[in-house]
Amino acid sequence: MRLSRYLLPLLRENPAEAQIVSHRLMLRAGLVRQTAAGIYSWLPLGLRVLRRIEQIVREEQDRAGALELLMPTIQPADLWRQSGRYEAYGKEMLRIQDRHDREMLYGPTNEEVITAIVRDTIKSYRDLPRNLYHIQWKFRDEVRPRFGVMRGRDFLMKDAYSFDLDKAGARRAYEKMFVAYLRSFARMGLKALPMAADTGPIGGDLSHEFIILAETGESAVFVHRDLVELDVLSESIDFEGDLKPVIERWTGRYAATDEKHDAARFAAEVPPEARIEARGIEVGHIFYFGTKYSEPMGAVVTGPDGSTVALEMGSYGIGVSRLVGAIIEASHDDNGIIWPDAVAPFQVGLVNLKPGDSAVDQACEKLYAGLEAAGIDVLYDDQDERAGAKFAGMDLIGLPWQLHVGPRGVAKGVVELKRRATGLREELALDQVIARFRA
Ligand SMILES: Nc1ncnc2c1ncn2[C@@H]1O[C@H](COP(=O)(O)OP(=O)(O)O)[C@@H](O)[C@H]1O
Ligand SMILES: [Mg+2]
Repeated sequence: MRLSRYLLPLLRENPAEAQIVSHRLMLRAGLVRQTAAGIYSWLPLGLRVLRRIEQIVREEQDRAGALELLMPTIQPADLWRQSGRYEAYGKEMLRIQDRHDREMLYGPTNEEVITAIVRDTIKSYRDLPRNLYHIQWKFRDEVRPRFGVMRGRDFLMKDAYSFDLDKAGARRAYEKMFVAYLRSFARMGLKALPMAADTGPIGGDLSHEFIILAETGESAVFVHRDLVELDVLSESIDFEGDLKPVIERWTGRYAATDEKHDAARFAAEVPPEARIEARGIEVGHIFYFGTKYSEPMGAVVTGPDGSTVALEMGSYGIGVSRLVGAIIEASHDDNGIIWPDAVAPFQVGLVNLKPGDSAVDQACEKLYAGLEAAGIDVLYDDQDERAGAKFAGMDLIGLPWQLHVGPRGVAKGVVELKRRATGLREELALDQVIARFRA
């Protein structure tokens, strides 16, 4: 992509309305613009990040055996009357009337819709288990939308719903999602720690929030240091095999948000040097809730012995749009964003330090075409601007690599390669650049 043809409205100054660093940087780096309170438009650069995150989530859901479908954003109130939640949900639900005065709503979540679909399509235990997910916009009329996309009213969520014949099956579905979550966040360059969460009236131990540590997080968290040092991506995981050892490793150390924190247990179980008291951002939440929806809505199957069985269900959410902000909270410096490679909008920023100089222009064109041909996403800054402003802009948008191409280097047949995360620079022969990125 050529910057001269792109839409990248960078802001030099910190916008006054933004209180936390990710919100500031998302506005300054031209990722989003606010359309209404808590409602954002995703500009081209921001959308690329959103799509990358979405794709990682999708791949890991698929790997764990979940099936993607797509449910609508608008739902009939009727379905919510069947589950008994229409009145209970309260003011966070945006209620709408269509031209025939039918009551509709903008979905804050999808348990009712998916339960109705499964009720109408799955009749026998032989068609179980199933886990169905979609990645779709939600609307929750939050009283206090804040921190940009972190707590929006309109936000993108991956929500999966599992359907099983019995509790043992539901537990297994839960375990698969637990591990899929560990992998998803790790692939995004995040340390997301599972913490036991409230299970409500159902009880048990089957609800976890996945929390990343960040100063601006909404909840206080208390964690054993060992947990932070675990690495899930170095393990080979067989989703059809026994996942318990992985889960035990990730739940075997103290980790709690303020809601569930037990100071006495923390002190007793965690040696002083291993105690981490920090703040955290919830990026995912998984939940087993049994027959809470299947019973009232009549989602039943015929069991092996011919009896009628209400489906055991769980739901599993990931805040896809929140993750864009959360990743920035976890990965930035004074100059701007530092995208982890896996979610970066482009891998390389190619900086022409002297547009109009024919040797430099030619070298850049050749690199640009070569990188594109090699399948490497490159943003080419071909604009007529001061070098200083270009460097600052590249640092702000945080692409993992920068290639600086100027007249002195080109005369010697070299360019400068900079790694955004470390600031390390190396000189690279022009004809080595493509090979360097392929490696
Ligand atoms: N207002 C919001 N803005 C952005 N992301 C949100 C918002 N509410 C929830 N999410 C994301 O969706 C995930 C699943 O939502 P859920 O657990 O149902 O929400 P909550 O924790 O607010 O009850 C959360 O872990 C979070 O990452
Ligand atoms: Mg939650």
